[in-house]
Amino acid sequence: MRPLPFCALILPLSAALNPDTLLDGFKRAVDCDSCHALLVPLKGLAELGDGTFVKTLVATCKILHLEDDDVCTGAISEQGPILAHALRSISPFGKTATKLCEGTFGLCQTPTVNEYTVPLPDRATRVAARPSGKKPFQVVHFSDVHIDRQYVTDADADCNKPICCRNFPENLGPPKEPAGPFGNRNCDSPVVLAKSLLKKISAMHAWSIFTGDVVEAAVWQINKTEVTGDMNSFNHALESVLGSPVFPAIGKLNKPLGMAETYDKSLTGNHDAAPANNFPLSSSSKYNAQWVFDLVGKEWAHWTDISAAREVKHFSGSYSVEVPGTNLRIISINTVYWYKQKYASTSQEIYQLTSRSFWLYASETPPYDPHEILAFLVEELREADKAGKRVWIIGHMPPGNQDTFSDQASASFSNYYDQVIKHYYGIIAGQFFGHTHYDEFQVAYSNYADQNVETAISVAWIGPALTPRSGNPAFKVYDVDPETYEIMDAKVYIADMANPNYQVEPEWGLYYSAREEYGQLLNALDSSTPLDAKFWHAVTEAFEKNDTAFQRYNEFKTRGAHIQPCNDTVCKKTAICGMRGARAEDNCHVVTPTTTFGDTERQDVSSQQCEGAGIGHLLRLLPNRLGNFSVGGIPS
Ligand SMILES: *[C@@H]1O[C@H](CO)[C@@H](O)[C@H](O)[C@H]1NC(C)=O
Ligand SMILES: *[C@@H]1O[C@H](CO)[C@@H](O)[C@H](O)[C@H]1NC(C)=O
Ligand SMILES: *[C@@H]1O[C@H](CO)[C@@H](O)[C@H](O)[C@H]1NC(C)=O
Ligand SMILES: *[C@@H]1O[C@H](CO)[C@@H](O)[C@H](O)[C@H]1NC(C)=O
Repeated sequence: MRPLPFCALILPLSAALNPDTLLDGFKRAVDCDSCHALLVPLKGLAELGDGTFVKTLVATCKILHLEDDDVCTGAISEQGPILAHALRSISPFGKTATKLCEGTFGLCQTPTVNEYTVPLPDRATRVAARPSGKKPFQVVHFSDVHIDRQYVTDADADCNKPICCRNFPENLGPPKEPAGPFGNRNCDSPVVLAKSLLKKISAMHAWSIFTGDVVEAAVWQINKTEVTGDMNSFNHALESVLGSPVFPAIGKLNKPLGMAETYDKSLTGNHDAAPANNFPLSSSSKYNAQWVFDLVGKEWAHWTDISAAREVKHFSGSYSVEVPGTNLRIISINTVYWYKQKYASTSQEIYQLTSRSFWLYASETPPYDPHEILAFLVEELREADKAGKRVWIIGHMPPGNQDTFSDQASASFSNYYDQVIKHYYGIIAGQFFGHTHYDEFQVAYSNYADQNVETAISVAWIGPALTPRSGNPAFKVYDVDPETYEIMDAKVYIADMANPNYQVEPEWGLYYSAREEYGQLLNALDSSTPLDAKFWHAVTEAFEKNDTAFQRYNEFKTRGAHIQPCNDTVCKKTAICGMRGARAEDNCHVVTPTTTFGDTERQDVSSQQCEGAGIGHLLRLLPNRLGNFSVGGIPS
């Protein structure tokens, strides 16, 4: 047993906090109750101030070698104060604390939904849209590009950090695995890979939707300059390479906005000029995300019309726009705020906490519709309904389950969103999301207790990602009915990294057609039938019966690389339940401590793909490493 200098660090700081209590708390945190108990000393530490909280956790992280020193310092300095604030603001035994224990430590189950009825206007009466039988047009869907502008060809792809392929000062010897020019499976996308994708898309002469996440996952290093640079350069690439319209959705910003810069008036100075609108603008907070929406709003004005670009500002990244020459309205919503509802649950979520509304969330009574994004969605749907338009909803976070504990959408928000879908599904021809990095789907039902082809009402199309960290780089092309805007086919294209030419010039080729692949599983799929919720429900039934088909789907999810085996009955059952779980409370997701807490010694990068190496990741490493240490050198 090695003595832990940790206690020497915090001992002098306070008589109020006994380091034994904190360390024991971490060691003993094995279930929901013990996690709540841990929050008592952790809150005690937070009450000593942000500085002490950060210093203590950074020292612990370094002493226990949870990650390299720079990762420890970066991640905890940026996110620690936010976690400390959350801890100070809540009761260790309240519902919010349960969410924290679920999200950060994976030790509690998701608390039950906060009941709320979303106010919904009357609908216009309309007959259901019928397939036109006309020649479909194409729309490209790409997502989660995660561009690492510091990617260096020949840098080591096998390194000790959460993300590699960069020139880190401590990389002295020859690389164990030199990174190729067009990417590596351990790393985010080099700029040239994103350009290659855009060039390929451009040649397809179709307009696009982009469901977010531009910034790379090197969380511990990201600051505002970097986010701005990443967004600018990607937006410019979109403009210069793509040459066709793209409708984006705002993704995670991968950064505790404004934190690193502390309070900078210039970042928030234009608030007074913003017109009165539905969400409170306060220039008093140093944790301000407005600059991102301003930036994105300006950049996006190239593709969306001006009024839409204004809405990007006013609704924190949400907007609504009519696609020129169509009867289709795209409503792009900032779903990142749903994520935030989970409080300081993971690194990414902690980032989201950094906007103004975080201060509302760090309480026992969270608002039902932060930034009134649902109200905005409902209003846009109401107008579209009145005007006889069809609608696509696009966003970053899918409404239902996520496969990893860290990403499960807030069950409450999912429930409210589902109420809106139930009301307006008749005019919603598609929902499109990213974030999971997988090529997958989620079906919504009018009655989740009775899931069948009749009750299946809407489908959320998800991913796939460009970043090689989570499978072969990929995108989807939809064949769209020009009258109903329903999806007739979805073709996935990949650049196979195993192709010997990949590092010379990625070759993008058709991977599979959903209609061909899954249509054959259904009896007599009529050629005029769209790939709608009923189709996808029927596919889930086919997966239950035909394991070969299910295994192919599982392989396709990550485009044939980084495959996560799912061939036992429990995994398959949960996976199929997830496909039927557009409402998160119905997705059968169970938080399993064994895979989330104390068992995350150097997770492989793919399992961190959405989270990045943030404070949540570091805290979950603690119990295992603590095992060999004793407080004050007294063998335990
Ligand atoms: C922000 O990050 C970039 C790239 O990592 C770095 O060059 C720059 O010095 C950083 N700026 C600040 C203010 O930390
Ligand atoms: C099961 O799925 C496989 C793969 O999609 C397919 O080739 C096969 O025909 C299916 N079997 C049945 C009985 O539908
Ligand atoms: C489970 O799946 C993995 C990968 O898909 C495969 O390697 C393994 O052989 C399968 N195991 C069984 C028992 O089918
Ligand atoms: C803890 O001790 C065990 C047994 O001596 C050893 O196998 C393990 O590697 C140690 N873990 C750490 C993190 O030092």
